[in-house]
Amino acid sequence: MGATGRLGVAIAHGIAARGGKVVLSGRDEQKLAALAASIGEAHGETPPFVCADLTQRDAPDRVLAGVRATAGRIDDLVLACGPFPRTPFPTVQREEFERTLTVHAVAPLLLVQLLAPDLTASGGAVVALGDADTTRPSPDHVG
Ligand SMILES: NC(=O)c1ccc[n+]([C@@H]2O[C@H](COP(=O)([O-])OP(=O)(O)OC[C@H]3O[C@@H](n4cnc5c(N)ncnc54)[C@H](OP(=O)(O)O)[C@@H]3O)[C@@H](O)[C@H]2O)c1
Repeated sequence: MGATGRLGVAIAHGIAARGGKVVLSGRDEQKLAALAASIGEAHGETPPFVCADLTQRDAPDRVLAGVRATAGRIDDLVLACGPFPRTPFPTVQREEFERTLTVHAVAPLLLVQLLAPDLTASGGAVVALGDADTTRPSPDHVG
């Protein structure tokens, strides 16, 4: 998840470079197609991708369906998704809180729930990228 982000791109290339198979997911089909092509060029195998906007209620189901239709199953899940809005705390609006929490927490947890049988069968891991702001909050970011 978040494969088209700064860290997501590096992680996806890193896994592919080690011979691992990835299923890319993000919200922008063009970025995903470009990333898949660049991984194919660099590492020899063009990975499948699943496009889903995590603010949409059906996103976890769409990702699951995309995994089933492409790779079949997964062993591990990397969560590198989410906005990091630069909005000073005194001005942040309810919608921004809700959007940020939905993309960082609600949708990923629902996806983990859906993929739990795969992860249990593989003895796999969920790697969720965090931020130093969780223990040292910034007054100028929603995070
Ligand atoms: N970069 C750092 O130095 C750093 C440091 C500490 C922690 N982190 C944490 O690591 C994670 C990734 O950071 P990053 O810097 O790689 O972030 P980023 O470059 O902003 O990438 C975020 C990813 O999430 C996707 N995304 C955003 N909103 C989405 C939505 N509604 N539905 C589906 N996907 C959505 C983005 O898609 P688009 O490409 O379409 O925008 C992108 O793929 C974040 O949780 C961040 O807090 C980052």
